[in-house]
Order: sequence, then structure tokens, then C-alpha cells
Amino acid sequence: MDFYYKQPVEIIFGNGKLSLLPELLGGARSPLIVTAPFFLEKGPVKELAERLSGGTYTQVSENPDVSEVNECSRLIREDGFDIIIAVGGGSVMDLAKAASVRVEDIREYHGTGKPVPLEDRLPLIAVPTTAGTGSEVTCVSVLTERETGKKCPIVSDGFFPKLALIDPELTVSMPPHITACTGIDVLCHSIEGYWSRGHQPICDELAVHAAKTVFKWLPKAYSQPEDLQAREKMAEASMFAGLAFSLPKTTASHACSFPLTSIYGIPHGEACGLTLDLFARVNREDPRTAVLAERLGFGSVEELADQILALKKLLCLRISIADLISSDQQINELVQKSHHPNLQNNPVQITDRILYSIYDQLRK
Ligand SMILES: NC(=O)c1ccc[n+]([C@@H]2O[C@H](COP(=O)([O-])OP(=O)(O)OC[C@H]3O[C@@H](n4cnc5c(N)ncnc54)[C@H](O)[C@@H]3O)[C@@H](O)[C@H]2O)c1
Ligand SMILES: [Zn+2]
Repeated sequence: MDFYYKQPVEIIFGNGKLSLLPELLGGARSPLIVTAPFFLEKGPVKELAERLSGGTYTQVSENPDVSEVNECSRLIREDGFDIIIAVGGGSVMDLAKAASVRVEDIREYHGTGKPVPLEDRLPLIAVPTTAGTGSEVTCVSVLTERETGKKCPIVSDGFFPKLALIDPELTVSMPPHITACTGIDVLCHSIEGYWSRGHQPICDELAVHAAKTVFKWLPKAYSQPEDLQAREKMAEASMFAGLAFSLPKTTASHACSFPLTSIYGIPHGEACGLTLDLFARVNREDPRTAVLAERLGFGSVEELADQILALKKLLCLRISIADLISSDQQINELVQKSHHPNLQNNPVQITDRILYSIYDQLRK
């Protein structure tokens, strides 16, 4: 068997590790912290910002917009920062990755296939506060152009952080609904990474570990937000799942999530999770999907799909969007806007008829 594996991100994992950050800056003198405003109000991120006495950038919305990337990039160019520290969920980390290459207008590279120039790139330290996207170990930055409704990833080797500093304590403040949305994303990354046509054996093992961990620990992280062991396990699963999908890439559920988020505002993880059990049933003929179900301890792919559905119900996540879509026209729009390259990674070829039937099931 031939395969390729690359993982250039240094990883430091453990409770309280955020306090090590000032010693990890190397020769950098002028750090920019990219984060959400509430992290600078109190707690360890505020203390870090005071200790580093660098700059801060906090204008980051969920599913960050290209204009916010351009603004952050302008600030970096004008104020001469020499390292970026991204402390936040996928939105913060992805914005910081895209800003780290310091281009004038990121739209030139967003969904255009044009390679991102790397000459002016700054090093980035990624500190996740959700568990989550795994963005701390991937070379992906997902951006939105609100003006046109486009949401898609940019993939570039230049987006690999120099260091992923994973401090599970930072995820304790997530309220249950955000824990649920971001946690189901971890399950999607691991399952889609496994059944992707781009699969390979190292990522397979990472995916199985991550998916098992989610089934075991996400319910506790959701129902007992203060449980540090559950938070630690979910932070670990998130990082493993990031490694598991980074090379194989995600598949149909992520392709469908992009219009579900950009048109209907459904949070990323919840949008991916909406179709995961449905695509598991579509993929039941794929032999590797059957092996995955077995390795996760299920008797069949049907049982895997049933358990994904049960987990979503337990976490009070959407299992229908009947309140959002009713007309055939809306379904046709979703079908057309789901034609993202990730769809081609699905082990079973996804036709428009299959997409229509998936969305049709979601309006019941
Ligand atoms: N780069 C990648 O590899 C990759 C992979 C999957 C998804 N994504 C993208 O990442 C984005 C989603 O990221 P996300 O799911 O981490 O959510 P997010 O970053 O959008 O955060 C969701 C909400 O949670 C809040 N939040 C974050 N951490 C918190 C904490 N510890 N306590 C309280 N509130 C907290 C944020 O402020 C925000 O309001 C989407 O744009 C998605 O497309 C990227
Ligand atoms: Zn995702």
C-alpha cells in the first residue's frame, strides 16, 4: 500500500499549559493576540495579554468574514507584529491563519484555487478554546464572504500553525449548546476522515480513537460542563480528529454544511452533524464504512447511524430543519450549493438525487 503522511505542527497538551506561552515565543518580540472580546475581560487569557504586552485583535465573528481577515492583516502589516497567537474556536484560529500571510485581499485566494503566497507569512501559535475544529493542527482556514454567501476552505501548507498549545481548561467555559455543536463536529471529522476516499492508515487509527472518545465523553462534557476529565478527553479527541481529516479531507456532510450555515445560519458542527447519520446510511455499501462501524463497537452501519442520531437527540441538536425549509425551491438551492469538492471524497458517489433525498428527509 502507498500512502503519504505529514504533520509539521508541534503539539503541547495539558491543563494550565497556557501559562507556558511567554516562554514559547522564540525570538519574537511583538506578539498579536487574536481572540474573542470576552476572553480579555477576565481569566488566564487576560493575564496572558497583560504579561505579553503585545497587541490584540478581537473583531472576529462566527464563520469569519473575509473583511475581518483583511482588517487583521492590515493591522499586522502596519503595526509590525512578528508572531500571532490565536486563542479561540475555529473562527478565531482560521481568521488568524488567513491573516498570518499578510495579503491585501484574501478574497483573491478564497475558493479560487490560486495558491496563497507565503513569503510574508508570520508564525502562528494556535490555542483552541472549543473542542472542536482541530484547526490547531490543520492547514485549513474556512472563511465566509457574506456579500456573496460563499463559505469554503482555503488549504495551504502555510496555514499549519508553528505550535498547537492545547489547554483543555480553556474549554470549560463553553455553554452546553456550544459544547454539543463543536463536539459533534469532532465526530464528523473523525468519521468523514475515515471513510474519505483519501484515507490512509495513520489517519484511520487517529479517526477511530477520536470517534470512540466522542461517543464516550461528549455526553458528560455536555451535561457536566465543569468535569475536567470529560473536557480533557474532548480536547484530545478534537486534536486527534483534526489530524485524522487533515490529509484525507472531509466528505459529504461538510460539503452540505457550507450552504446550511451560510444560508440558514446553523452553527458549523450542528450543520455537519445534521447529515452525518443520513450519509452513513448512504455509505452502508462501502466496505470501509462497515469496518469503521465494527471498530467503533457497532454491529452494523445501521447501528452506527442510529447511535449518531441518538447522540444528537441527547445533545438537543437539530435532527430536522422543517422550520427552516419547506419548498422544493429551497431544497434545490441547497442541492446546487452543496457541490463542494469535498463531495468527491465521499466513498459512494453523491448524485443530485441523493442530495435531494437527504435534504427532503431533513424537512420532515
Ligand atoms: N480550519 C479547520 O480545520 C476547520 C475545521 C472545521 C471547521 N472549521 C471552521 O471553524 C468555525 C467554527 O469553529 P468552532 O466550531 O470552534 O466555533 P466558533 O469558533 O465559531 O465559536 C462558536 C462560539 O463559541 C464561543 N466560544 C469559543 N470558545 C469558548 C469558550 N471556551 N467559552 C465560551 N464561549 C466560547 C465563540 O466566541 C463563538 O461565539 C467555522 O467557520 C468552521 O467552518 C475549521
Ligand atoms: Zn468541521
